[in-house]
Amino acid sequence: MDINWYPGHMAKARRLMQESLKAVDLIIEIVDARIPHSSRNPDFDDLFANKERVMVLNKADLADKAITKLWLDHYHQAGLQTLALDSAHPKDKKLVEGMIARAAQEKVTRMANRGAKKVVRAMVTGIPNVGKSTFINMFAGTAAAKASNRPGVTRGKQIIRITPWLELMDTPGVLWPKLDDPDGALHLALTGAIKDDIMNVYGLARELVAIVGQRYPDALPQRYKLEELGETPDHTIQAICKKRGFLLRGGELDEERAARTLLEEYRNAKLGAMTLETPDEIKKRSGDAESFEL
Ligand code: G4P
Repeated sequence: MDINWYPGHMAKARRLMQESLKAVDLIIEIVDARIPHSSRNPDFDDLFANKERVMVLNKADLADKAITKLWLDHYHQAGLQTLALDSAHPKDKKLVEGMIARAAQEKVTRMANRGAKKVVRAMVTGIPNVGKSTFINMFAGTAAAKASNRPGVTRGKQIIRITPWLELMDTPGVLWPKLDDPDGALHLALTGAIKDDIMNVYGLARELVAIVGQRYPDALPQRYKLEELGETPDHTIQAICKKRGFLLRGGELDEERAARTLLEEYRNAKLGAMTLETPDEIKKRSGDAESFEL
């Protein structure tokens, strides 16, 4: 399935980001734990090359725990402080603070040696929908961090002091993911990072059934009480229509409705906690393990 869509405004967002970097000690990069690679903008490696950086695998509650562990190991090996998090149900604030403290330690000590108390300013970045606002709100405790995701709309420069030594800054521009890798684009679409109104919902659900059927073969039969997966994704979707009674007037199967239901239930983890990519798969996909660092 071809997802042929790429919003503009990248250059502006990049410029804004670069300007703001000067006032920042540390980058907190947020990715979606279900698709850690596809939910990163590859420009980030370049942009943040000289900055201390920590990785947050957010929405970890929706992701496969065993694969999240592989990703955590992967980022650790790349030398980053990293953490799996469920920002929507915050209970791990102290862990986040600890991780930031470790990443900023060198800077804080350097300043302390000069007799100055350092307030660490961390910029929260990530592509739309990974949970940046939710992450900041976890500390701010209000809707203050909520901002628009429309391309080209600049967020106000939010700076929130969360401890006596730590400030969080909202990302200054919206950096969209790159969609030139078809697998990555598909994963973004499946998790809902790309809005369905520009896509063929049935085509997407068919891809979902194929991927979930392969990775988690018991998930669909269990959820929809099917004896087994259909011979093709179309057959599985038809079987779901019958089980759920998704029928049009005249008794025809309402496959569109089954498609919408599948996507929604996948995104809410009603099919189970799932991850769509592993570090090894990404290494293989990029063809060269050396060039794939993060
Ligand atoms: P953004 O600023 O990076 O664009 O993302 P935002 O915080 O707005 O979060 C996007 C959606 O993801 C929100 O759902 C939010 O509740 C959800 N979310 C964020 N962090 C987590 C997490 O750790 N776990 C889970 N399960 N959900 C999380 P929403 O407001 O319902 O938006 P949508 O579902 O309509 O996109």
